[in-house]
Amino acid sequence: MKSIGSYPNLRMRRNRKADWSRRLVQENNLSTNDLVWPIFIAEGRNIKEPIKTMPGVYRHSLDKIEKLIESAIKIKIPMVALFPHTPLNKKNKNGTEALNKNNLVCKALSIIKKNYKNIGVMCDVALDPYTSHGHDGVLSKNYVDNDKTVKILVKQSLLLAEMGCDVIAPSDMMDGRIGEIRTALDKKGYQMVQILAYAVKYASNFYGPFRDAVGSQKLLKTDKKNYQMDFKNSKESLREVALDIKEGADFVMVKPGMPYLDIIKLIKDNFKIPVFAYQVSGEYSLIKNGIDKKILSEEAIYESLISFKRAGANAIVTYFADQIAKKLK
Ligand code: PBG
Repeated sequence: MKSIGSYPNLRMRRNRKADWSRRLVQENNLSTNDLVWPIFIAEGRNIKEPIKTMPGVYRHSLDKIEKLIESAIKIKIPMVALFPHTPLNKKNKNGTEALNKNNLVCKALSIIKKNYKNIGVMCDVALDPYTSHGHDGVLSKNYVDNDKTVKILVKQSLLLAEMGCDVIAPSDMMDGRIGEIRTALDKKGYQMVQILAYAVKYASNFYGPFRDAVGSQKLLKTDKKNYQMDFKNSKESLREVALDIKEGADFVMVKPGMPYLDIIKLIKDNFKIPVFAYQVSGEYSLIKNGIDKKILSEEAIYESLISFKRAGANAIVTYFADQIAKKLK
């Protein structure tokens, strides 16, 4: 006897026959609540400077910050991420501008935190926007010195917390920094400041446009392979995440995004902690160029973001956040 559970009785296309039916059986969804919007800030006044390698993304001066934050709140983006374009004359080999309480990020933080309650602000902890060599830490004999760097990152984190940062996001990939930062934050009374650990960050070829945006691309003479992960590895990501959870991370990041959906799923299947995905600058520019050249339809953005949700991401850092949030609303 022919089983009823096979063709022609069974037809997978039946559930796809109409929009209402497809909506009924959809397994994943994207909402504005899933989005983190990175904002690049620059010195000067009345500046909205295009970034050549990231069409549609700009560096904004501080007098534009309030407008940007208001637009983010209006479209219900829960959190923004601040990245500074530090002028060359403020960069040096130890990245000391990172510890200046009048630096761009600190100023932006105080503007935002004075005026707006209903939006989170996340800040990267790493020295690359501030160093004259573009590395995320300080060098000893051309090698990024882990323990010396961690000491500075702790100071950077405390300063950011003092200025009102909600989520400290170490993106530097030094060993042991999550624990050191957590301990220091707690000791100074910042128990409620969250830590988003860039736990799984690969030495990727997709970061180029970001480095252009923060002005480190031309300064960087060597790769970051002795601190960021080797993209040939996946099991190593489990160890990285386990360590950062033990050290006190509140959420973990996987970065880049689309070429690493397998890693997002691996982490999600093995841990209970919220997982963030970063659709990085190179991914943004590829998709954006495809759309601008009419090779892709704009729907490709939505499809790319849903892929993160399907893999198990709880939230996505994406340069498309404002554009897609407007559409979702
Ligand atoms: C640096 C940092 C990088 C990114 C975020 N923080 C670049 C790097 O590690 O060289 C990349 C983000 C992107 O490409 O969108 N600590």
